[in-house]
Amino acid sequence: MWQEAIEAALDTLRGNIRNHPGLFPHITEGQKYEWGGNDDWIEGFYTGMMWLGYEYGGDPFLKAAAEEQLANYRHRLDHHIVLDHHDIGFLYSLSAVAQWRVTGSEEARQLALAAADKLLLRYRPNYGALQAWGKEGDPENGGRIIIDCLMNVPLLYWAHEQTGDRTYYDIALKHVRKSLRFLVRGDGSSYHTFYFDQETGGAIRGGTHQGYQDGSTWTRGQSWGVYGFALSYRYTGDAAYLDASKRLAKYFIAHLPEDHVAYWDFDVAVEAGTPRDSSASAITACGILELLELLPAEDPDRAELADALQAMMASLVENYSTRSIPGAEGLLRHGSYHVRGDRAPDDYMIWGDYYYLEALVRMERGIKGYW
Ligand code: GLY
Repeated sequence: MWQEAIEAALDTLRGNIRNHPGLFPHITEGQKYEWGGNDDWIEGFYTGMMWLGYEYGGDPFLKAAAEEQLANYRHRLDHHIVLDHHDIGFLYSLSAVAQWRVTGSEEARQLALAAADKLLLRYRPNYGALQAWGKEGDPENGGRIIIDCLMNVPLLYWAHEQTGDRTYYDIALKHVRKSLRFLVRGDGSSYHTFYFDQETGGAIRGGTHQGYQDGSTWTRGQSWGVYGFALSYRYTGDAAYLDASKRLAKYFIAHLPEDHVAYWDFDVAVEAGTPRDSSASAITACGILELLELLPAEDPDRAELADALQAMMASLVENYSTRSIPGAEGLLRHGSYHVRGDRAPDDYMIWGDYYYLEALVRMERGIKGYW
């Protein structure tokens, strides 16, 4: 089943590249993506899918398409195009780091290091973490961290490995420590965001941006935590992060509905028409794959995690994928970006597509993402 799902996904990807040369998929409603420039937080997912596809099948068309985009990412970094946010990690891990990992390109490596330097500039010593959104001092966002950032710090760990400069590692670690202390709750659930006083660094309160309400557990935030803490364990060896990832994963699994694909927030009342977020399940599947590689063989939770992974991925392939929908441009239906915001739920999400493909090629061939 995995192989067939991968082939269908790669056919869709190749069709998108042919039909929309030079463009990137943006969030949409319906069967088609909107296509535009490299000016959101999400473009890296598209490029990352090309690298996964190339590693899987060796198709030179996918490699060339990914390589062609590097100049665009360089231009974006040099001109600081919509980069006042921490998602520099998502963008450049899946484009520049990916290209360096797959081809050894020095040009890609230099770009990834420059991106890591830009991400470092978001560190705020007053509260000891990376500011998620906006410019320094921004009244609304200046003191805010969000759990999603756990997937951005691997760019800093990677830069430390490449250069030996401890600054990258120390700042990544400071941020992840803060995230563990203030975003993860005792029952394994999580806050989406946490606010600190910008001057004194004092802790103010947890809250949400995309979840149901302050204090609820936004499903996708939980999934960023599952994968993000596992990756921090991979880079640091600190068992606290392995434990955090596992606790978040167990909470996620324990709160899944019958078809193993999560609703958009774990605290929202479920009724007819409550939106799912298939992308959260795809991200969590990748996090569980990472966990299964890192946990000791005798860990008592391995079987539960492995069973959940199989059930989640089988349901995504059978019930949520577009493999039998001719002309579909996305891979996974029923993602939810910002249900209470101005984005309609139930759309294709390019990050859902990316993590779905990452999980499939890792299960089938052991090919990992580029974090
Ligand atoms: N990182 C933004 C989101 O998950 O919607």
